[in-house]
Amino acid sequence: MQLETNVMKKPIKGFSKLSKEGKIEWLVNEHFEKPEAARALLEEYWHTDEKKQQLHDDFIENTVTNYFLPFGVAPNFLINDELYTLPMAIEESSVVAAASKAAGFWLKRGGFKTEIVSTTKIGHVHFNYYGSVETLKTMFEAWKPMFFEETEELTANMRARGGGILSVELKDKTDVLENYFQIEARFETCDSMGANFINSCLEQFAQVMRADVMSRDISEEDKNLQVVMCILSNYTPECVVRAEVSCKVEELNDDKDVTPEEFATKFKRAVRIAEVEPYRATTHNKGIMNGIDAVIIATGNDFRAIEAASHTYASRNGQYTSLTHCTVEDGIFRFWIEIPLALGTVGGLTKLHPMVKLAHELLGHPNSETLMGIVAASGLAQNFGALRALVTTGIQKGHMKMHLFNILNQLEATTEERDAIVAHFTDKVPHHNLVVAKFCELRGIPVPRSDVKKDS
Ligand code: MEV
Repeated sequence: MQLETNVMKKPIKGFSKLSKEGKIEWLVNEHFEKPEAARALLEEYWHTDEKKQQLHDDFIENTVTNYFLPFGVAPNFLINDELYTLPMAIEESSVVAAASKAAGFWLKRGGFKTEIVSTTKIGHVHFNYYGSVETLKTMFEAWKPMFFEETEELTANMRARGGGILSVELKDKTDVLENYFQIEARFETCDSMGANFINSCLEQFAQVMRADVMSRDISEEDKNLQVVMCILSNYTPECVVRAEVSCKVEELNDDKDVTPEEFATKFKRAVRIAEVEPYRATTHNKGIMNGIDAVIIATGNDFRAIEAASHTYASRNGQYTSLTHCTVEDGIFRFWIEIPLALGTVGGLTKLHPMVKLAHELLGHPNSETLMGIVAASGLAQNFGALRALVTTGIQKGHMKMHLFNILNQLEATTEERDAIVAHFTDKVPHHNLVVAKFCELRGIPVPRSDVKKDS
């Protein structure tokens, strides 16, 4: 049946089967007013080295070009007495600057201390069961050794590295959903993120369950087991790292216009507000994720998984709250983060993407536990930088300083104009309308009406 639609564009069948040129041909003609300009831009962002471009083409389906993000570095991160320069892939102007500043601040005060709380990952076979729970429990006892035996080939390499399946449990979830049960399994996946390993094991468990149930001489009702799905959980509350900074309150002296005591009190209060107020906690944690995601992306890890886990973790006690905490006791300022980070330093993009490989080399080829500490320190530093600005000068000063270059790029300012405008705003907050006014003054042109009104 043809659906009535007022959209003029036509759907396409078999798009993924077209060659790259064919895809681009269709795309630019179907969606762009100036097809040749769109095509030129897509091609401009291709890698000049054909092999590297092929690598990017093969990462996903329907690649038509590449999408660049800046790859910056934040030096001077002292973590467990080792000095690191952090790779950060991110588009937000002030993030790398803030991380570097916070790293420099803590470099002089002992740096970051990190501790791995746990490294266990969890996955489930979600299934429906309509027979007697007692029969299910009896069958589960028979399945348990079979789960280990039937996955021996799959787990051999992981076991050789010290990992594997740690435990399997039967969970009755019928109090939340009728006939719903789980096999909940725990895994140690060493230096790999482990998604493929875990999912493969779970799918094998499901095979064991189906085959065993069918082979039993039991009633049709007791045989009625339906596997719904087998999948790891990205919620990893048992794969957690803690990072901390601390110093004497009097050492919190800074170039800011407040005493160390006032700073400590205000800072702690800001964290407390994020602990009790979800509106603030969301922004507070977003700032943490600025630092975390940037390192996660640069090191080729899955930032969607990390985001999902961290927000579930932040809600684990029933209310969304801060991922960082602060105390000021006996003259000591202490600030820390506890966050689930299921990371891999082998597999995935780590051996494929040239910039990811470079990022790992830059960090000295960390194992997954070391990387967990580095990433947590990055989040803590970012949060420290944001709160420090918020409770003293305000966020806009630093934010707009970095954003100035984006405004200058939008205006297509020349090098001379850039230099003059940057010099002009060294001691002023470069709000958008002020920058435009200065730019127009330099060019001797009137300020556009839209910018006269703009307040950004
Ligand atoms: C902006 O990307 C992040 C901040 O809003 C974080 C915060 O408010 O803590 C500055």
